[in-house]
Amino acid sequence: MMDLKDKKVFIETYGCQMNFADSEVVTAILGEAGCRRCESAEEADYVLINTCAIRDNAEQRIHHRLRDLRALQQKRRLYVGVLGCMAERLKQQLMIEEENVSFVVGPDAYRCLPEVMKRVTEGAKVAETELSTTETYSDIVPVRLDGNGISAYISIMRGCQNYCAYCVVPYTRGRERSRDAESIVAEARGLFEAGYKEVTLLGQNVNSYRWEDVTFAQLMARVAEISPLLRVRFATSHPKDLSDELLETMAKYENICKCIHLPLQSGSERMLKLMNRRYTPEWYMGRIEAVRRYMPDCSITTDVIAGFCGEEEEDHQATLEMFKKVGYDYAYMFKFSMRPDTYAEKHLKDDVPDAVKGRRLEEIIKLQGEIALKNNRKDIGKTFEVLVEGTSHRSKEQLFGRNSQNKVIVFDRGDVKVGEYVKVRVTDCTAATLIGECVTAQGGRLNA
Ligand code: 5AD
Ligand code: SF4
Repeated sequence: MMDLKDKKVFIETYGCQMNFADSEVVTAILGEAGCRRCESAEEADYVLINTCAIRDNAEQRIHHRLRDLRALQQKRRLYVGVLGCMAERLKQQLMIEEENVSFVVGPDAYRCLPEVMKRVTEGAKVAETELSTTETYSDIVPVRLDGNGISAYISIMRGCQNYCAYCVVPYTRGRERSRDAESIVAEARGLFEAGYKEVTLLGQNVNSYRWEDVTFAQLMARVAEISPLLRVRFATSHPKDLSDELLETMAKYENICKCIHLPLQSGSERMLKLMNRRYTPEWYMGRIEAVRRYMPDCSITTDVIAGFCGEEEEDHQATLEMFKKVGYDYAYMFKFSMRPDTYAEKHLKDDVPDAVKGRRLEEIIKLQGEIALKNNRKDIGKTFEVLVEGTSHRSKEQLFGRNSQNKVIVFDRGDVKVGEYVKVRVTDCTAATLIGECVTAQGGRLNA
């Protein structure tokens, strides 16, 4: 069988942070097998597309990309493989629809990749889409891709079994399982020793993390204790199990970032019930109040879906009201997209006309823009500690970084270096960005 040694592989990643973390695991697995990474499809022997299935437009994008790759494949030998959630959802079907795809490998089967990639060179078409109840890739040290060397993702659990009615993830990523705490702490320590300043602990629902008797809050505390110079972030929490223990831990450690992503999905009690979210707007508000009680300076962000099955005008109004009441610092806002095999597809009707979904989404976006601007204005005059991440996209003379609240701040470069902690005083803002001036530039110390 053909050897993979020195075969050039290009990985393209779509979708959530989890997928980006998985691409780093895949790169490590293929590196072990002798493959080399390359920077574009043009140079590659294999192109791997790590895909997302969360909404129909995410999948359409991938179909377009796969068709684009045909032009390259007509000129020379190039194997195209599909990984991730769309691979898991469509399995062999994907290779029937897209004839230029030679293999599909689901999120729990990445260890099979070297074998699969060898088999396709013999003309086989291969689908490996078995889901696992135990795979966490905990022994694999991810190879960091397109990183700035400052901030890295660490996957701490996989899968989801909340079965929100609209969501395809339980079907593409399987049952929930937690990675062993020792390997997570070791990975974080390794990153810090390599010069990283920030880690983001990832899982579809981090609050359900449990390994032996270690809870998510205890895991975070252990990572935070590696060094006060290592920032710790996490995503995502399901509001139904956001615990006080977690909030207490966040408040206790200065280097655990004061930012919490708490997907609302809808502000209507009736919709939340249909969505199987298992909380009411009142209960959600209670959690928001708890966050503010423990951490008055914590930013809160969310996800919301406009136009879910049966959504009436009054449900939509309830969502707008909730947005006003909470005052989110940032929101990811989506039009509902019916996904095959979900509870919604089997039992509910996608009955909100597309134009109405679009209009409701626009109203949420407009409101959120106003709220974010108002929130950012409250930051004018405050001084934040900022981890500098790079040169601003608008001007080479400016740097950007984020504060603990995860807000982007741009400021004049001076003699500040990327990777340093600096104090920045906010002087102005837009709805998306804070603008400031650096007031200390010694770098290196938190809370100096
Ligand atoms: N349609 C629209 N948005 C969705 N999301 C999940 N499933 C769907 C869907 N079918 C959104 C939710 C989730 C985020 C990752 O994507 O808001 O929190
Ligand atoms: Fe997309 Fe969800 Fe899969 Fe992430 S887990 S890639 S958001 S479908």
